[in-house]
Formats: sequence, structure tokens, C-alpha cells
Amino acid sequence: MKVLEITGGKELSGTIRISGAKNSSVALIPAAILADDDVTICNVPEITDTDALSDILSYLGAEVRRASESIVINPETIENKEIPEEQAKKLRASYYFMGALLGKYKHVEMYFPGGCSIGQRPINLHLKGFEALGATVSNDGNKYIVDAKELKGANIYLDIASVGATINIMLAAVRAKGKTTIDNAAKEPEIVNVATFLNNMGAKISGAGTSEIIIEGVESLKGCFHEVIPDRIEAGTYTIIGALVGNYLKIDNIIPEHIEALTSKLTEMGIELEIGSDYLIVNKSDSYKSVNIKTLVYPGFPTDLQQPFSVLLTRAKGKSSITETIWENRFMHIPYLNKMGANITVDGMKAEIMGPTKLTGCEVEATDLRAGAAMVAAALSAEGTTTITNINHILRGYENIVEKLTDVGAKIELKEI
Ligand code: EPU
Repeated sequence: MKVLEITGGKELSGTIRISGAKNSSVALIPAAILADDDVTICNVPEITDTDALSDILSYLGAEVRRASESIVINPETIENKEIPEEQAKKLRASYYFMGALLGKYKHVEMYFPGGCSIGQRPINLHLKGFEALGATVSNDGNKYIVDAKELKGANIYLDIASVGATINIMLAAVRAKGKTTIDNAAKEPEIVNVATFLNNMGAKISGAGTSEIIIEGVESLKGCFHEVIPDRIEAGTYTIIGALVGNYLKIDNIIPEHIEALTSKLTEMGIELEIGSDYLIVNKSDSYKSVNIKTLVYPGFPTDLQQPFSVLLTRAKGKSSITETIWENRFMHIPYLNKMGANITVDGMKAEIMGPTKLTGCEVEATDLRAGAAMVAAALSAEGTTTITNINHILRGYENIVEKLTDVGAKIELKEI
């Protein structure tokens, strides 16, 4: 079993360079199927989620070449066959093969995706979108069969501004006949990144980043060169770590606007930040003010930073609160923070944190990806040594986490026990 062993209390100084965004890359890799020739995607993080998607592409017959941080995909040799359940279940984003294969071949057979157990995570809105475009959806146990004689543009209203449904509908609609409008579309930066990628391939998408996206279907898409945006959640995670134990810690290669919901809360807590055009510098503080956060769709406070942020709130004086509105099961890390010495109570989708409390190292578990990031942040700021188990979750989303933290002075080791 792999574990992370972290001895806390070290000040972190120097520079952490942020990798390409996981949640963009995991859509761009399946989206490459839509092209008729070579696609080069650069700044793709080397994490197990991107590996799993490349493996699915290879299984389908695409030629996939990894050269340092770039991936070159030639989809010409793809055979549209069923993706095995074991591969689909490795991660959530395997669902993007549905939109991409449907868009190109008008038929897809795939199993329900996997991913972190942070809620029920239905895909009804994705399927409703495919149906609106003219597809029929049937299921055989856990397997979905989506089929269309032809895909026709439609007006689609999303009941919830879902990231996955917005991207999946874009993927299916780019080669549909006529115009598709997605209303109440998600506005996350990853959606804009995927739309730019498709437009580089020859698609006609406008409005990405607003709540109305318009897609004019095209006959074919060509290969292109595209760069993944910096990972705003990785940037936010290291910024939070800097606010806990940073001594002039520079978080480099970021788009500051993408993490404004976080940086404005940090300022409210009394943390001084120096924000440049593509970096920020953060220091730990002697005292932190309590704050309340509520997770919301972009540009609100991201649910994916709520768990690491809860660690910082254990340092704040008085009562802070977190209201989670996106995922019904995103407080699984709290019992472990309490085991380390925090004073947090959870009632449904709300947590109340009384502080300041001191954290002490012990054995904890990464129950999901961002819970794992929270455990790393807690361990770095705790007294003594923490052992984190179930770290495969962390390796799914944070590129070179051990090296990045070691380089700025952390005592962190990946061990096989
Ligand atoms: N929802 C439905 N039906 C659907 C789709 C979504 O009810 O068909 C609900 C979900 O249950 C949830 C809400 O809508 O309550 C929002 O879900 P969304 O579809 O936006 O989430 P997602 O696309 O499955 C992506 C990220 C998540 C991130 C959320 C919200 C990827 C691969 N995952 O998930 O990232 O939390 O958007 O921003 O892009 C992570 O990186 O740790 C992570 C979980």
C-alpha cells in the first residue's frame, strides 16, 4: 500500500509551478476523437486521470503519443466499440467519451462512469441533452446505449448549470445539423478552454463562459494545436497551503482571476497576498479572522477548494462556517481533521468550525481527491508526523505533488508499506 508520510511545521519558501488543469485535460483528451487528423494538446498534467483516458483512447485504436507535457493523438484509426466497464469506472470524466463518440459516430455504448464518491452524481442532464439532439438512450443494467440516425441542433435548457453536461452536449452538438443553444450553461474556465479547443478544430461555438452557448454544427473537424489552461484548483490548494505555512511562497503560472473567490476570502481572513499578472505570493499569518463560505458554481467559491480551505479555518479565531451546495457528501474529511485536533461539527451540508485549534499528526485517510489535498494541507501545518492512506485519490489530480512540495522545503515522502 502506498502512503504519504508528512512531518509538519516546516515553513515553505520558493516557487511552486502550477500544472495544466485536470478538469480541462480530462475533457480535451476524449474531445480529440472529433478531429479527422493529428491533435496536439500541450500542458497536460501527468496524473493518473489523464493516463486512464489515454488508455481508453488507445483501447479504441487511436494513436496516442506522450512527449513530456504534451499529448499527440491521431484518432483516424479509432474503432467505435464498447468501452469496458473497468476502464469507464476508473474516473468520472470517462463520460466525455459519450459526447465525443456520439458526435462523431452517432452511436456510443458505455458504462456508468466512476470517480470520487462525493455525491450521487447522476448523468440525467447529459442524457437529456443527447435526446434533445435526436438520440435515443437505452440502458442495459449499468450500460448506456446512445444512438442517433442523425443529430439535429436543438434548444437545450439545463436545470442545473452542470459542467459535465455542458461539455458533453457541446461535444455531441459540434457535428450536429444546424444550431444548438445551451441555456443555463456552466461558466467554468474549463468550459471556455474546451470550446476554444473545438473552435481551433473548426467548430463554431460562441458564448462559452456565459450562461448561453451557441453551437453552429459543422460537417467535419480537423486536427489542431492547443494549450491547457493552468489548474485553478491546484493553484488554490497550494495558495491555501501557503496561507498555513508559507514564508514568501510563490504560486506561479496561474490566472489570478480564476481564483478570485478564494483570494478575496483569504484577504477577508487577514492574509496578505501579492498578486501579479500570472503569479501570487503568500505568507502564513500570526492570526486569522473567521469567515463563512458557501460553495457555488463559477465564479462563486469552488466546491473543489472547500475541503482544503476547511483546514485553514481551523486556525481562525471564533466560529467559521462552510455551506456546501454542490455535492451532498463532501465532508468525509472532517472526522480526520477532528482526529488531528480540530473542533468541527457537521450538520447535513453545513459545517461549523471553532478555532483556533492546533493540529497534531496521526494516521488519516484520503477519502476522495480534494479530501486528500485537505489532509496534505493539514499534515503540513500539524505538529509531528501524519501518515495519509488511500493516496491513489490524490495522485489522480495533483501532478508531482511530492516533488513540488519537497522543492519548497516540505518533509514529505511517498512510501510503500
Ligand atoms: N447533476 C445532476 N445531473 C447531471 C449532472 C449533474 O443532477 O446530469 C448535479 C450533480 O449531482 C451536482 C451538480 O449537478 O450536484 C453539479 O455537477 P456538475 O455536473 O457540474 O459536476 P461534474 O461535471 O460531474 C465537475 C468536476 C468536479 C467539480 C464539479 C463542480 C470534472 C471531471 N469534475 O464535475 O471536480 O466538483 O464539476 O465544479 O470536471 C474534482 O476535481 O475534485 C471534482 C470533483
